[in-house]
Amino acid sequence: MTGATDFARDGFAVVPGFIDAARCERLIARAEALADSLVADSPRSIFTTKEQERSSDEWFLESGGRVRCFFEAEAAGVAPAQAINKIGHALHDLDPDYAALSFDARLLPLARACGLAEPVAVQSMIIFKAPGIGGEVSVHQDACFLFTDGAPVIGFWLALEDATIDNGCLWVEPGGHRGPLRQRFRRAARGGTEFVTLDATPLPRPDQLVPVPVAAGTLVVLHGLLPHWSGPNLSPRRRLAYALHCVDAAAGFPDDNWLRRAPLGPPRRLADGPPAI
Ligand code: FE2
Repeated sequence: MTGATDFARDGFAVVPGFIDAARCERLIARAEALADSLVADSPRSIFTTKEQERSSDEWFLESGGRVRCFFEAEAAGVAPAQAINKIGHALHDLDPDYAALSFDARLLPLARACGLAEPVAVQSMIIFKAPGIGGEVSVHQDACFLFTDGAPVIGFWLALEDATIDNGCLWVEPGGHRGPLRQRFRRAARGGTEFVTLDATPLPRPDQLVPVPVAAGTLVVLHGLLPHWSGPNLSPRRRLAYALHCVDAAAGFPDDNWLRRAPLGPPRRLADGPPAI
């Protein structure tokens, strides 16, 4: 990282060459193997009916302590393994290759430089952004989804394939992390989930953000309050990425956050290194 200085000013930092091409290839191969193995046991048409939306909620809400796959909404006629939106959300605990990456010793000083005194890994996902069907992720702040009452969540976003404007790279609002948290996404008392407005300041529009195209192997560190977005992938090239989210062990993590770790135990400290799997 060119330093916590850039991160403090901009709310994000770019670390080129965090992993090399060979490691990208191995992680891509592992992602594809996971996709192939998971699709058979996954509800495919989870976006199509009300009944299935309910099971979709459960499938999602139970995934904080598991490895599950989720499909693109617009994927008619696409083979299941090619229609995956993402795999999540406990790869850092349960998959040996992605755990080794998640607990890479170089992430600990980065997380500390970004304000997490004792970082623990709480969420991970492989994001496929498939060619032609990979959907937009609307403008959001990660702290909306992983709320804490202390230092905001930090995201480590690693491009495993080149991320370009055409295939849906990240777009960010430099300095936007100094703005307020707009919303919380939480479990609703009646079941399911809900968004609660905390501050009515509008989030920026996508056309007010700047693109962050990066080569495969580049790590992007994101402050939890930084508004960011990625567009649909209308190109013929996939944009595979891995995202790991860490919070401070000392920060409160409310029970109504969507992410729960059952059946796993408490989140692991980056300082502890990779789990034995
Ligand atoms: Fe995000």
